[in-house]
Amino acid sequence: MELNRALWDAWAEDHFGSGFYGVERFRAGESTLPDFDIEGAGPVAGRRLLHLQCHFGLDTLSWTRLGAEATGLDFSPKAIGLARRLVEDCGLRTRFVCANVYDAASALDGERFPVVVSTAGVLPWLPDIPRWAAVAASVLEPGGLFYLREFHPVSQVFCPTSDSPAAPRLRYPYFPTGAPVREPAEASYGGAAAVAGGTSCEWPHSLGEVIQSLLDSGLRLDAIREFPFTTYRAYPWLEEGTDGRWRWPGDQSPLPLMYSLRCRAPG
Ligand SMILES: C[S@@+](CC[C@H](N)C(=O)[O-])C[C@H]1O[C@@H](n2cnc3c(N)ncnc32)[C@H](O)[C@@H]1O
Repeated sequence: MELNRALWDAWAEDHFGSGFYGVERFRAGESTLPDFDIEGAGPVAGRRLLHLQCHFGLDTLSWTRLGAEATGLDFSPKAIGLARRLVEDCGLRTRFVCANVYDAASALDGERFPVVVSTAGVLPWLPDIPRWAAVAASVLEPGGLFYLREFHPVSQVFCPTSDSPAAPRLRYPYFPTGAPVREPAEASYGGAAAVAGGTSCEWPHSLGEVIQSLLDSGLRLDAIREFPFTTYRAYPWLEEGTDGRWRWPGDQSPLPLMYSLRCRAPG
């Protein structure tokens, strides 16, 4: 996780200026939240909302614009510094906390929330999913809602430079192995340059592992959705629709590319 933190510190700076993240569009009033996340998290106006692994906070700040009392948490000091700069620049009331997600309960002084969200590229950075699920349960109020939207692990197994949708090459494991896939830090999905000497460590987590861990932490699963599109060009052959979403070519995607879960804490 220390290797990853160094990587995210470097990427945060680059992402802040990238067209992919569109900070200027956000400053001009645009929301970064897709409709399925707004629907998935349910009504947030006037409610306290915790956003885990928030990067430099564009989604967290967008939840604030929808009326939530939002708190974003991330372990990258660079990302949190940039998020706080946006709070000042945009005049929004959003709190940002710099902490490892595994330390969320103590970093938040035991505060519990009616809504907790985490989205888009969060789980592969974490070694231990049962422990992560226990953290999610521990920061929820009784009856609180946990919303997760993630890239589908089935869609993460191919070599990203495979050149044909008809014959994508398998490269990564689907099932957890307990060990991270360690790779030299290439350019990021968001246009950040490769980090010289940097290493990324990503752990594969199957859908079954994620769901079972949430159930074992005492949460109840209310809804699961699988999506035939994704929000970025994960493979060179994906085609962008007029809605800005990326799909497998042809009439029907052979694979799910993202999924979302809604869980409830007991009580
Ligand atoms: C792909 S980004 C999430 C992007 C976010 N969904 C967005 O669109 O801005 C993953 C984030 O997870 C954070 N992260 C990775 N491991 C973490 C950990 N152990 N604790 C807290 N944050 C972590 C990184 O710093 C990074 O900001």
